[in-house]
Amino acid sequence: MDTHSVTFLPIGVTVSVERGTDLLTAAGKVNLEIKAPCGGDGTCGKCAIIVKSGKAKARRDSHLEVRMAAKGLNLACQTLIEDDDLVVEIPKTSSMSKHQVLVENVASGDGASDVLREYLLSVWQLKDLFQEKRENPLHGYPLNPLCRWVQLTMPAANFQDNRDDLSRFVLTLRKETKCTDINVSLSLLHNLSDTIRIENFKISVLLSEVSGKAEVLAIEPGHCHQPLYGIAVDIGTTTVVAYLLDLYKGTVVDTAGTHNCQARFGDDVISRIVYAVDEPDGMKNVHQSIIDTINTLIQDLLVKQRKIKETDIRVIMTAGNTTMAHLFLGINPKHIRLEPYIPTANFFPVVKAQELGIRVHPNAPVFCYPAVASYVGGDIVSGALFTSMGKADAPVALLIDIGTNGEMVLGAGDWLVTCSCSAGPAFEGSGITFGMRAMHGAIEHLMIDPETYEVSYMTINNGKPLGICGSGLIDGLAKLRRTGIIDRAGKFQTNLPTERMRFGETGPEFVLVWAADTEIDRDIVISEADVKNLLRAKGAVFAGIQTLLNIVGFELDGIEIIYVAGGFGNYLNIPDAIAIGLLPDLPIEKYKFIGNSSAKGACMALLSAEAWAEAQDVAGKMTYIELSVGNLFMDEFVSSLFIPHTDLSLFPNVDI
Ligand code: FES
Repeated sequence: MDTHSVTFLPIGVTVSVERGTDLLTAAGKVNLEIKAPCGGDGTCGKCAIIVKSGKAKARRDSHLEVRMAAKGLNLACQTLIEDDDLVVEIPKTSSMSKHQVLVENVASGDGASDVLREYLLSVWQLKDLFQEKRENPLHGYPLNPLCRWVQLTMPAANFQDNRDDLSRFVLTLRKETKCTDINVSLSLLHNLSDTIRIENFKISVLLSEVSGKAEVLAIEPGHCHQPLYGIAVDIGTTTVVAYLLDLYKGTVVDTAGTHNCQARFGDDVISRIVYAVDEPDGMKNVHQSIIDTINTLIQDLLVKQRKIKETDIRVIMTAGNTTMAHLFLGINPKHIRLEPYIPTANFFPVVKAQELGIRVHPNAPVFCYPAVASYVGGDIVSGALFTSMGKADAPVALLIDIGTNGEMVLGAGDWLVTCSCSAGPAFEGSGITFGMRAMHGAIEHLMIDPETYEVSYMTINNGKPLGICGSGLIDGLAKLRRTGIIDRAGKFQTNLPTERMRFGETGPEFVLVWAADTEIDRDIVISEADVKNLLRAKGAVFAGIQTLLNIVGFELDGIEIIYVAGGFGNYLNIPDAIAIGLLPDLPIEKYKFIGNSSAKGACMALLSAEAWAEAQDVAGKMTYIELSVGNLFMDEFVSSLFIPHTDLSLFPNVDI
């Protein structure tokens, strides 16, 4: 086999790969994460690398590659290893760093003015609502974890009571737990007789019980008190977050989060489905990638919590969108993207951790939140459970989760309608010239002086700016409009008295940060093309809301509460989101940040069998509306492509 080595700088990791392998794949083999929003299609230009030495060739001479080559860059996904060893540098702008999974404090960036800081503090007070709820993972449900130890004292066998050991065990357990349907595996039967006699018919039984059905996971002699932990995982398309839970106390011990390693196969679910279905070993690779991500998080948690062992983790609960659930379980996702968009399953079987290769106790049951449809998944059901929208006395609410897509649920109690609008990943930085995810160095808030057009900004972790993330883009759009830099259709006013306004490669653009102040030595700009992309994304979300309201014949004013979910929601500036027409013009008191409600719902279900039973119920109650059928959504979408909207009567309090 003709193999060559590739050394990736600045880390200095070397990998040996076959001739003809592309550099994105080579980096993936040593777990180096290079940004690849288009999944290696050669169209996004975010996987730029520098070939320092050795011979590589371009897969094809695309327009994008020629432009990159002029800057001394190559696209990792389109650069193939030739007949030499290579040394390659991954610039900071192309490498994935840790995500900002939860930020508790308002931090000031170098460029943040006092006015900006003060303003942000006032906006941030909304976050208290979210933090209040986060402290109680049970959120009103009784502590009754999906996995628990039960101590039994069985009647001893003798000539009068000569039942077989299994019957004796099952009958005693049934009396103790009220479970009617108890399953004992063959492997536990092998040593049952000896185990129950070690401590004279006193035993401890590890049980996973849901709705009267119980699976016996372990049987130990005597009345023991063994450590008992569970992991709740939110499998996001972009970010994966794990919560380590103490199942005796019902508390969160620790949390860890990172980006989803599947990102190297594309930013959005469609790219990942295409990769899984079309590439050789595609399904195996995307499946293994999410398993590796979760195993890394578990190891991170165990390194921090040294007293807890892998085998002390006895149960796992996951919540994710429908594609993520399919890829996690290794189920073919092909038909999720083909009309009429039918997933293989909405309700998933419980599997053992060892079947998936998750590094906890091998027998730990792994639960997956039920989905509603191909584009409304378990993460939304989990969020709906967290908000109690399905309860009989719940107020009429709108739950919005703005992530890679915009999913929403409207209703209360027994009526819940839901849809997903293809907002696209613009708010996660995709398709935006200097767009990036919420990572170190991303501009997350900014202000523009209406007279001088000078820009103040704040970045995540106070890093030197690398780009701009979703919350920064919303701030940016609102401020560009407020200062008159763009008109209501997103068109730039090119005759402004500032050198920040100029013409770039794709047309008019406004400089947010000058190169000297950035980490990337390039001016960070927002272009007219970026603005158009953002208008399409915000228009899709608002059109989705309007379509749901029209379908059920409900007025906007009738909504009593709006839950804003998602990692993005933690940092969203609500007044600006209303001002650009992303969110409805309703009193700000009606808005509640609920943060990562998918993860919180997963914790609740893991800690309470009652919550888990209700999650199934909530999924069953939701009516899915397919927006691609009929013209209703498209008409609303076209009307929503202005700031804030073509129909200003929908935004009576917005004055930009
Ligand atoms: Fe290489 Fe998009 S251009 S991943």
